[in-house]
Amino acid sequence: MCGIIGIIGTHDAAPRLVEGLRRLEYRGYDSAGVATLVKGGIERRRAEGKLLNLDAKLREAPLPGVIGIGHTRWATHGGPTENNAHPHATHRVAVVHNGIIENYQELKAELIEHGYVFESATDTEVIAHLVTYYMEKEGLGPVEAAAASFKRFTGAFSLVLLFSGQEDMLIGARHGTPLAVGYGEGEMYFASDAFALAPLTNRICYLEDGDWVELTRSAAVIHDASDAVVERPVKTTALSGALIGKDGYRHYMLKEIYEQPQVIGDTLNAYINPETGRVTLPETSFDIAKATKLTIVACGTAYYAGVVAKYWFETLARLPVEVDIASEFRYREAPMPEGGVALFISQSGETLDTLEALRYCKRQGQKILSIVNVPESTIARESDAVLYTMAGPEIGVASTKAFTTQLTTLACLAVTVGHARGVIPAERMQQIAQALREVPARAADVLAHDERLHELAQEVAEARDVLYLGRGAMYPLALEGALKLKEISYIHAEGYAAGELKHGPIALIDENVPVIVLVPSDGLFEKTVSNVQEVCARSGKVLLIADKKGIDKLSDKVRWSLELPACDPLVAPLLYAIPVQLLAYHVAVLKGTDVDQPRNLAKSVTVE
Ligand code: AGP
Repeated sequence: MCGIIGIIGTHDAAPRLVEGLRRLEYRGYDSAGVATLVKGGIERRRAEGKLLNLDAKLREAPLPGVIGIGHTRWATHGGPTENNAHPHATHRVAVVHNGIIENYQELKAELIEHGYVFESATDTEVIAHLVTYYMEKEGLGPVEAAAASFKRFTGAFSLVLLFSGQEDMLIGARHGTPLAVGYGEGEMYFASDAFALAPLTNRICYLEDGDWVELTRSAAVIHDASDAVVERPVKTTALSGALIGKDGYRHYMLKEIYEQPQVIGDTLNAYINPETGRVTLPETSFDIAKATKLTIVACGTAYYAGVVAKYWFETLARLPVEVDIASEFRYREAPMPEGGVALFISQSGETLDTLEALRYCKRQGQKILSIVNVPESTIARESDAVLYTMAGPEIGVASTKAFTTQLTTLACLAVTVGHARGVIPAERMQQIAQALREVPARAADVLAHDERLHELAQEVAEARDVLYLGRGAMYPLALEGALKLKEISYIHAEGYAAGELKHGPIALIDENVPVIVLVPSDGLFEKTVSNVQEVCARSGKVLLIADKKGIDKLSDKVRWSLELPACDPLVAPLLYAIPVQLLAYHVAVLKGTDVDQPRNLAKSVTVE
């Protein structure tokens, strides 16, 4: 999960590369660098840490040159140091790379044998040395040397190469991780995604896996994996060139939490006909209602959305559902049924484990449906049908509005399938559609508890361990709440099925462990109330998140409580997501962590 960019321009490349990297920082931010040609020779500037450090270095020592490459890194091989920062280079070739060269040790040993000296601990450096080897020892030109090198790599590699003395050529390759070509006016570009190119152009060509490209100022010659020259469509994106700002919020994450009423509404407008009030999904090339089984695969927060959806599909549509995390599913060799549908949920549409799980299911003859937030993303493009969330760009690494718009889309899908399978009558479908339409307003009501959650955060911020409990669809919400807290405040937290507490975790309960319990008035209310009482009986510090019924029943037994509006149990996960997001946010702010770019994380995990 790194961000790469290349520019063959008509004026200084370095500042434009940095601007592009600023838009790619969500992919990784532990070091960054740029390289340009200065009087034909390769010159680099690299810096450890955030992009602002590279910016400062370039202000101290500007880098001229109108052709260049840039990189923002999430370390895989070699620590996040300046020495391991990309671009890596020999005197002939500089390279920026996203992915992992899995056979790099073998190649490195071979190149050391040929007298090449390595300066970093990265896998990427072998790319520069191998291309140089083919040019120096085998007498190949840059294009042939690059093509020969690509055939030697195993693993994932999207990369851009810059050659000394070549003022009008960059070579890029896409293998397992995304790379796009941008078409400018007398300029051309490479980047990991269209968002990075938006200030430069909106004419984008998304490369296919195995493609490699000879780029000059006037053209892109695209070769497929067999080196044949191919055409790829150039599309016009609607992405704005304006860098998305925080609009006055302290962090992107807080802004995106507050955007949820709007974007949930936008997503509902895409799937509920405003005239009839009925859920009306776009036509798909297959009928998911006829599926014999639904397999849902995703990672992280997107996986938790899938777990919520399992409850919905099984109750509303009586459809057998299996849900798994992509990094496990893709290696299980799971038998897939005739007539099965596989559903992939991904904000970025680039998560490699999810993508590889998709490819496994496709090989097993499943129909592929995906729910993604980024148009033209790899997962979207490899699916038979796509339902887009209308969350808009999510910059904060911690997923918030993407999660609730995923749930919105999944709820619309589940109720449509349930009606099509004759399980739920039209009036229940209308009831659910109405409950969904009320969510934006109720979500706004929940956001009004922000200050209260800021107070409660003081109680959690000093904890060493935190437990989240829920039953039914609130169980994955407990998992999500724990993930939010872990990933931005670095406090250990666990989500648990409330019914499981007595099978072990209750041993953790004492006055030092805050226990967040999610208790909507649903069919499991009384059961969850009993679990709350079990915790209180062991002097556990319970933060009760419930509607009036739960508050009336328990508020005198628990340490703190937060009242949410009563709602149809089906939409409760959309509302109960907000307090756990805000709680995690305020705890992280109190801890002083980097809320939008937490340590060790990246927004899009395009490595395995
Ligand atoms: C959630 O807050 C994290 N950012 C992470 O778990 C994320 O949900 C996961 O990496 C999946 O990303 P995707 O939705 O882009 O596939």
